[in-house]
Amino acid sequence: MADQDTGYVEDPAPGHGRLAPRARFDSDAPCLELDGPWRFRAAAGVHDLALGFEDPAFDDTHWDRLPVPSCWQLHGIGAPAYTNVTYPFPVDPPRVPDENPTGEYRRVFTLPGDWPAGRSVLRLDGVDSCFAVWLNGVRLGDGKGSRMPTEFDATDVLRTGPNVLAVRVHQWSAGSYLEDQDMWWLSGIFRSVRLLSRPAGGLDDFFVHAGYDHTTGAGTLRIDTSGAARLSLPALGLQDADPAGPHTFEDVVPWSAEQPHLYLGELTTGSERIHVRIGFRTVTVEDGLLKVNGRRLLLRGVNRHEWDPETGRTLSDATMLRDVLLMKRHNINAVRTSHYPPSSEFLALCDEYGLWVVDECDLETHGFEQVDWRGNPAADGPWRAACLDRMRRVVERDKNHPSVIMWSLGNESGTGENLAAMAAWTRDRDPSRPIHYEGDRDSGYVDVYSRMYADHAETELIGRGEEPVTDDPALDAHRRQLPFILCEYAHAMGNGPGGLSEYQRLFETYPRLQGGFVWEWIDHGIARHTPDGRRFFAYGGDFGEQVHDANFVADGLVLPDRTPSPGLVEYKKVVEPVRIDVAEADALIRIHNGHDFRDTSHLRFRWRAEDDGEPVAEGELAVPTLAAGARTTLPQPALPPAEGERSLTVVAELAGDEPWAGAGHEIAWGQSVTGTFREPGRPAGARRARPGRSLRGPSAVARTTDRLDIGPARFDPVTGALRGLGRLALDGPVLDVWRAPTDNDELGPRLADRWRDFGLDRLTTKVRDVVPAGDGLTVVTRVAPAGSDAALTATYHWRADDEALRLDLAVAPLGDWPLPLPRIGVRLALPGWIDTVDWYGRGPGEAYRDSAAAARLGRFRSTVDALQTPYVRPQENGNRHEVRWARLTGDGGGLEVSGGFDLTVRRWTSHQLDAARHSTDLTPGDRVHVNLDAAHHGLGSASCGPGTLPQHTLHAEPTMLRLTLRGL
Ligand code: GAL
Repeated sequence: MADQDTGYVEDPAPGHGRLAPRARFDSDAPCLELDGPWRFRAAAGVHDLALGFEDPAFDDTHWDRLPVPSCWQLHGIGAPAYTNVTYPFPVDPPRVPDENPTGEYRRVFTLPGDWPAGRSVLRLDGVDSCFAVWLNGVRLGDGKGSRMPTEFDATDVLRTGPNVLAVRVHQWSAGSYLEDQDMWWLSGIFRSVRLLSRPAGGLDDFFVHAGYDHTTGAGTLRIDTSGAARLSLPALGLQDADPAGPHTFEDVVPWSAEQPHLYLGELTTGSERIHVRIGFRTVTVEDGLLKVNGRRLLLRGVNRHEWDPETGRTLSDATMLRDVLLMKRHNINAVRTSHYPPSSEFLALCDEYGLWVVDECDLETHGFEQVDWRGNPAADGPWRAACLDRMRRVVERDKNHPSVIMWSLGNESGTGENLAAMAAWTRDRDPSRPIHYEGDRDSGYVDVYSRMYADHAETELIGRGEEPVTDDPALDAHRRQLPFILCEYAHAMGNGPGGLSEYQRLFETYPRLQGGFVWEWIDHGIARHTPDGRRFFAYGGDFGEQVHDANFVADGLVLPDRTPSPGLVEYKKVVEPVRIDVAEADALIRIHNGHDFRDTSHLRFRWRAEDDGEPVAEGELAVPTLAAGARTTLPQPALPPAEGERSLTVVAELAGDEPWAGAGHEIAWGQSVTGTFREPGRPAGARRARPGRSLRGPSAVARTTDRLDIGPARFDPVTGALRGLGRLALDGPVLDVWRAPTDNDELGPRLADRWRDFGLDRLTTKVRDVVPAGDGLTVVTRVAPAGSDAALTATYHWRADDEALRLDLAVAPLGDWPLPLPRIGVRLALPGWIDTVDWYGRGPGEAYRDSAAAARLGRFRSTVDALQTPYVRPQENGNRHEVRWARLTGDGGGLEVSGGFDLTVRRWTSHQLDAARHSTDLTPGDRVHVNLDAAHHGLGSASCGPGTLPQHTLHAEPTMLRLTLRGL
């Protein structure tokens, strides 16, 4: 029986009965959407099929329904599973386990009465991972290649009246070996299904070649068509012209990601009108540089997987648009479609809104690395057709998108003749776009030298053209001619990445370094609820997978619900296309237009002066229009003398609405900071002093057997611990060096394990001295881990006046401290009614020493709850950097702290944060826990890539922290 023929599942061949791949386009030919609820049956494997299910007479009324498109695991059928590199089945290519979840889909549809006679094509835009299709009981064919369309000719079996479509989808197939892309394993018909009428005399395919000559401003256009057609392009004066031309237009507006000008037109035949959107641009690799329209690009990119926390890899148009808008609003100009072609709709949005795209083939065989690449399909003859088929299908589908400037052969598939063949085919078919592939360290197949996670030092060597010589002299010479991109860098897992600014400085210094793509855009968390109905995001292992890679799937710049993470805000600042340097030394403002193409006429510049965060003056800055790459220097505005710490902030914002953001949207900013801040709560003109140097006149120590008071402060006379300040009860401050390790602390060289082995999470305290003396109190403690003679001595010097308490804390390491500290500072616990934090310092967002570019000096307010960043796996977060003073308040009063410190405020301890696996494990207690830190260890990007840079490493060394505390 035909329906038992499941041999195609383990056949490396890409499919049978399919039509040749072609461009995706919109036309006025009728199209029948077949999305919606389909009948569905889950089978355990090929031994468990519903025999005869393709027969139109088959009774499926007892079957469930499943939406098409969707991923069945997200509808409670089977379970999602996450692995990074490891195949979740034995490596036995092309065979797959008998336990092969299979979905049987049926749908009845009726052709509209006016459906034209002539050819009809059934198109499935994405089915994971392998499927066979029957229409009215007739097998049309089968296919693999999950993230590319497959078309079948349905003409001969379509009928008026009801038609029965039956599709059998297998989770595992030979194709799974080619789709090991570090993401959830999900299955089903996850993109749309359509029936397309193909009128006689219509066009099946066309290829737009639209070049731009930057030396003359002329555009050239040639459209290869699969049959006779006419071209109209009203804005360029073409009416019913021969698409083959070639047409030359003296003066066209070129397409770029910065100014994505599209010419709208039509290809017409006697029977069909096809919409075309033409962008004129020419991509070259010349003089060792990747150029578009004659200019070197600087890629400010991200790697984007398709992800939605509710629907998995099925994305709505609204979600795709949201990605594009979020990217544009965060100064991102490029996307690598890791590691497969996205929905066509996404590329249409990139054309329209302007993003450079590296379009990647649906290919990754990374799991073969774990068997020393034995049998790697990218190198193995029997897989040649499958590899070429995948490349062909991405190139043919996407060839008419001006946003696509490079083809990528795939990801992490080793090396081999099949990759070489894919490159050769692509070069021949579309010589207008360079070829990318990272796994080819020798760069033999490619036109750009690409690497992932090279650290700053190696990247700089490559920038200088001084990378180590490789074995093959010819290939080595070839690679040295190539521009360089980091196709992945700055692993955005959890809290991080740190070190972005340092990369950007390299990209802006060495022309060969043309930027890169942060790994990655979005956390692939799956929305789930606790039994009591609280929502959280699940990750690997949460579905009982035996083999999994935990939360390595949550490594994006946006949280699963697309809330921008602090990392995205940092990236926006680091890659801003306009640099504004407000100089402290010479009272000048230097502005550099770092756009590759666009002048600054779409921007307006504003300035704002503040003293201690209070507005002083503001205005517009008249900046002459700067061409791309141009610079100017302007005087700073005349300002009254500063009172306190003066900041002068200059921002560049959109002068008018853009399609992706409204007027006033901020693009870039610069800020100077001079002078010293004044204590809070003091009248203007009051003593300008360093915090804590401002005691009015010290209070004497008052001691009884059970009390030890200094001014408003109450101490425990035995331990010397602070217990109260005015009417505020508090615990601490006491020395603290522990933070809930970030993913970057936990992974890579596993710094967090060293911290735990050393005992930093379980330090004990010995009070060595409590010495009241005259107007103060000195408490000496020794803080140390079990089993070690290494320790930290913390010496607290307390003094007070009638309203403020001053702490000078000196910390000194004793013995051997062979590892960096997570943090150094104090923690204290306050009553749980504290709910609001006002501060003057850097903000408004989270910042750490190596991810602080986006935090500007100012006055900010937040609730305690809003200070938290809900990373998918709970970890250290929410730090506010270089705070001058903070007020933590609630109904019962509060606490004011001044000095200079980093600040975290949360409703749980660092240990509770560390123990939590999901955000919903954290529940508020009756205290608010505050850390005031002299310093933190940087974030780095060690979860995949370089760790914290030396200049951001927190060594155990003598440290001072000076604070003034006031009860409110
Ligand atoms: C790269 C890979 C990505 C992802 C990343 C780590 O090696 O290309 O797919 O796995 O590492 O998150």
